[in-house]
Amino acid sequence: MNLHVVILAAGQGTRMRSALPKVLHPVAGKAMLGHVIDCARALSPQRIHVVIGHGAELVRERLAAADINWVLQSEQLGTGHAVAQALPDIQDAEQILVLYGDVPLLRVETLKALSDKAGKACLGMLTVEMQDPTGYGRIVRGADNQVLAIVEQKDANAAQLLIREGNTGIMALPGEQAAHWLNSLSNSNAQGEYYLTDVVALAVAQGVGVQVCQPQDEQEVMGANNRQQLATLERAYQQRQTQRLMAEGVSLADPMRVDIRGELQAGQDIFIDVNVVFEGQVRIEDGVVIEPNCVIRNSHIAAGSVIKAFSHIDGAEVGPQCDVGPYARLRPGTRLQQGAKIGNFVETKKADIGAGAKINHLSYVGDAEVGDGANIGAGTITCNYDGVNKFVTQIGAGAFIGSNTALVAPVRIGAGAVTGAGSTITQNVPDNALAISRVKQRVIEDWKRPEKKE
Ligand code: UD1
Ligand code: CA
Repeated sequence: MNLHVVILAAGQGTRMRSALPKVLHPVAGKAMLGHVIDCARALSPQRIHVVIGHGAELVRERLAAADINWVLQSEQLGTGHAVAQALPDIQDAEQILVLYGDVPLLRVETLKALSDKAGKACLGMLTVEMQDPTGYGRIVRGADNQVLAIVEQKDANAAQLLIREGNTGIMALPGEQAAHWLNSLSNSNAQGEYYLTDVVALAVAQGVGVQVCQPQDEQEVMGANNRQQLATLERAYQQRQTQRLMAEGVSLADPMRVDIRGELQAGQDIFIDVNVVFEGQVRIEDGVVIEPNCVIRNSHIAAGSVIKAFSHIDGAEVGPQCDVGPYARLRPGTRLQQGAKIGNFVETKKADIGAGAKINHLSYVGDAEVGDGANIGAGTITCNYDGVNKFVTQIGAGAFIGSNTALVAPVRIGAGAVTGAGSTITQNVPDNALAISRVKQRVIEDWKRPEKKE
């Protein structure tokens, strides 16, 4: 079926009270419109048309992609008018699916069911039975329950206002009739707008079948008009993610206190404590434990590793059985081999840390290669930057770096070598050697401390 998707995203979103166009406000770190576009993409349509108006330039810039046709609606004259703006770019469509840019939790399965049920010949709409349908268009049905029309809240009479079946706005239009219907809409209604919803009555008048589908839950079709509703969507989205994780074998200390802003791929028997935030693409393998208050972004944590409290892990590869934190900061390009240990207040960047190597306290290791089993003492600094260029520090397997060593790169410490505490190392150290560069200690016996002058 030749399918086109039209996403409405021209509205201002005044109630957000924001300089940012409404559809760019994020849910789980991604613009609401981005979620809707991804959902549309999953149906592999012929083309995705996004109708923009308020903040058009910014929206277009932020979400630029080759498969999107941006359509400008310079004046917001209603949802019907908005869809009509895309018509010149839609040819031979057998079905046009209309989505809203501010309804980001819609499931692909729901959309697919609607699209399939409506097919090429029928009008399809997604409706929802609501406790309180205030503000929504009402689905008006006839004596034998067949759909007759949608009536907007502001145009509804007292009897119609009692109807609890609301219009989600998501609709499938048969390609053959769409243009004709959209061009014959009128704006003589309470809001003086061209209502997309009026196509339902047109379909009924022409004897075109009307098919109705429901979402799996009400959250799927919730929109965000203000920041309160945005926060509700965020929680609903997060709840979906945590439910999935638990179903897959991950234990969460509190499902309400874990946030996933991106994609988290997880194995089994993982334990995640409270206030952990995942960002971007993260993969964690079986048996990993993540203690409270960690941020983990674009990283891979292999089986059996423990990330202790308050650690920040970004762009890192953590091998199996590693021990990280508390208060560790792994920056992009960090690679920990099996059983490596990174302790408190240690920062690593572009560093390859060998199997079983230890950096337990208060160190900076950047642009470095650390061999298997090396032990880096407290307060070690790789001086990797001369203010202009970056240089590499190499530390051989089994080396022992004394506390408070400054390693001035480029420099190489041999395998099994030792540096004395407090040394500034500027030259290579051969394998198994000791390098020491501190001033020799002097002791002056019976030292008289100065006295206060009268
Ligand atoms: C619309 C439906 C209503 C439904 C409700 C669900 C119509 C006439 N009414 O009402 O039946 O219950 O959604 O939320 O369709 N937009 C444009 N250009 C425009 C007007 C709107 O792009 O000229 C976009 C908005 O940015 C928004 C969406 O279309 O994303 C819906 O518009 P909105 O004004 O919120 O429609 P409602 O009045 O809520
Ligand atoms: Ca609305």
